[in-house]
Amino acid sequence: MNVPGGDAADVGSRAQASLRLDGVGMSFGAKEVLAGIDLEVSPGQFVALVGPSGAGKSTLLRLLNGSHRPTVGTVSVLGTDPTKCSRRELQRLRTRIGFVFQQFGLVGRLSAMENVLMGALGSLRLPRYGVSSYPQDLRRRAAGNLERVGLIDARFQRCDTLSGGQQQRVAIARTLMQDAEIVLADEPVASLDPSSSLSVLETLRRLSAEDGFTVVCSLHQVDLALAISDRIVAVRDGSLVLDTATSQTNESQIRSIYQRNGPAT
Ligand SMILES: Nc1ncnc2c1ncn2[C@@H]1O[C@H](COP(=O)(O)OP(=O)(O)O)[C@@H](O)[C@H]1O
Ligand SMILES: [Mg+2]
Repeated sequence: MNVPGGDAADVGSRAQASLRLDGVGMSFGAKEVLAGIDLEVSPGQFVALVGPSGAGKSTLLRLLNGSHRPTVGTVSVLGTDPTKCSRRELQRLRTRIGFVFQQFGLVGRLSAMENVLMGALGSLRLPRYGVSSYPQDLRRRAAGNLERVGLIDARFQRCDTLSGGQQQRVAIARTLMQDAEIVLADEPVASLDPSSSLSVLETLRRLSAEDGFTVVCSLHQVDLALAISDRIVAVRDGSLVLDTATSQTNESQIRSIYQRNGPAT
């Protein structure tokens, strides 16, 4: 762990729900984007968040990492309400949450290794320049994490010369440097072709199973959600319309939720 101070509250939170939303609603001005959201995610669970574009998936993920404050209701992340945190506490909480983006968020001109090392910056005092400026133990860990995502041979390659799937693997390896307890992924494979999408998600799933971190991953593709998750939560027009164990649902049920028209006006 790179977070100092494993106090009693931290230990207790492992046994609690990783994430919990109670009666959460979110509006931007007069526009209501989420309403009446109740959701509890257990440690280690892999949740696929599905729903059409504009349904509210990204907003939900931002509530879960404390970037948005709900208009109503309460949010609990690892036993902590991010809206009640000081800036410093929120920063500490965020080091326990990894975030994976659709567009990877890498520095293209830097090597895979350097990008992964940047995942440890939260635990270092100063910005670093070049691989050799990082302590040796971190360099070893970064190489180990690149190995775990299948990219050790590409460690010195500039990220902007890697394929999309490889870039997302680097981003996942970077997140591993945080030893995060939760990984939130916002459409991490939306820019990838179907076969690299599946293999990137399978990698994320394997790492979650090996390390025990919780994942909430928004996805457009129902088939991928069915292939990799423990649980599927569907959002439509700002409401949860399905919350089920993946083994208890199927493609046609989920599709019918996607395709149903919104309320007639
Ligand atoms: N910062 C914002 N200000 C105003 N409206 C927003 C903001 N963020 C998202 N929205 C609106 O909220 C709705 C849900 O957006 P989003 O959470 O991005 O959906 P999804 O990720 O499922 O595509 C959309 O109608 C979007 O335009
Ligand atoms: Mg989105």
